[in-house]
Amino acid sequence: MQRRVIDLGSVMDELLEIRDLALRIALEVAPIPATAQPRVPQARTMAIASKSTDIDLVTELDSATELAITRLIMAERPEDGILAEEGSASASTTGYTWVIDPIDGTVNYFFGHPHWCICIGVTDAEGDAVVGVVHAPALRETYVAAKGHGAHVIIDEEWLPLTAAAEAPLELALLATGFSYDRERRLDMARVFAALVPRVRDMRRAGAAGLDICGVAAGRVHGYYERDIKPWDVTAASVVAREAGATVIRTGQPMGPNLTIVAAPLLAETLRAELAGMGVVD
Ligand code: IPD
Ligand code: CA
Repeated sequence: MQRRVIDLGSVMDELLEIRDLALRIALEVAPIPATAQPRVPQARTMAIASKSTDIDLVTELDSATELAITRLIMAERPEDGILAEEGSASASTTGYTWVIDPIDGTVNYFFGHPHWCICIGVTDAEGDAVVGVVHAPALRETYVAAKGHGAHVIIDEEWLPLTAAAEAPLELALLATGFSYDRERRLDMARVFAALVPRVRDMRRAGAAGLDICGVAAGRVHGYYERDIKPWDVTAASVVAREAGATVIRTGQPMGPNLTIVAAPLLAETLRAELAGMGVVD
């Protein structure tokens, strides 16, 4: 039997090249949604439609940004696959697949809040997330990471390393979470929220999963949990969180009922046990 020799050094270098390409693309397309974001309701003219439910929005800028991202990827790496929230999809022949949310935090974006981001992640042939770029134009922050190369946040062109997602006992933990667009499903999420909130320092619902997860890497929250989030919400940011020392737990179906937990290792296990105790078994 022939042994396949994998040159780990060149795989590592390729990840850095892909990371830098993802960063270039995120920065290049950002003006498309950023310049169109309404700052006040009176300025809101963009076309919108609803998706999975009446409160799940898509704007014309989500679609335009996704198209711009996928065109740039295809121009540079036509053999890679694509999986994107607004429907772009193609198969991979290299093993790498780009997993894209053109605007994470669309509701924030539409209502003029600054908390939204462009998420560009890449998975490898095993489905592992290996590259992540989360760019938040209105916050002027960009999170970048590649497996084995650490995580950074770029602020004013300065690359600051993110090295240690912090541990905290549950009762002192500041947690982030989010809610589904499905009103029925929200009832159960609210039940879990209500059981957890008296037991922790506090909870945040900021409205963009990508930034919530990067927030664990940056020490802005201790932990994050959410149910039913999709691969494009989590892929890019999970590389940032992992490279900063956090544990990323994802159970259930990638596109169906699921649970994602991101926190420093001990807190992640505590949260997993607590949520299981509350009957969250997605
Ligand atoms: C949503 C945001 C939100 C989370 C939802 C996601 P979208 O993504 O990340 O914080 O709670 O589950 O669907 O729709 O704005 O791309
Ligand atoms: Ca989105």
